[in-house]
Amino acid sequence: MRERTFAIIKPDAVADRKVGKIIDALLSEGFDIVEMRQVVLDRPSAERFYATHAGKRFYADLVDFMTSGPIVALQVEGEDAVAHLRNFVGTTNPRTAARGTLRRRFGTSSLRNAIHASDSPGNAALEAAQFFAPPK
Ligand code: CMP
Repeated sequence: MRERTFAIIKPDAVADRKVGKIIDALLSEGFDIVEMRQVVLDRPSAERFYATHAGKRFYADLVDFMTSGPIVALQVEGEDAVAHLRNFVGTTNPRTAARGTLRRRFGTSSLRNAIHASDSPGNAALEAAQFFAPPK
């Protein structure tokens, strides 16, 4: 099933000039980029985006990190895009993520892991709505 999902290239990867390589990897993997926007998140937006993690031990560091510089918000489309992109992004810790995954290639720690991908179609729609107008 062709579907749409949502991703963020995080401040670590933008600052390290890895956006082009990550976009290239997404396109080579068969995803289509349908929306793309570079923004700097303010604290309320970062807190809202990561509200499900409020109270976790890494939450304050996460909000600091996500507001530390520009991010690139993306909507990508493809066959089973939500599950496919989650697999392609890899597990949270880049050091233990599978070889070939984006986090293994571009991330440097569990916090600074280069890219976020939505974990369900419902969350993809909710997260995308923070950055993009709804699809027509
Ligand atoms: P993401 O997929 O964007 O969802 C939540 C984010 O919190 C995660 O990627 C990491 O950036 C961060 N995170 C999750 N677990 C940890 C952890 N154990 N230590 C530090 N940061 C974490």
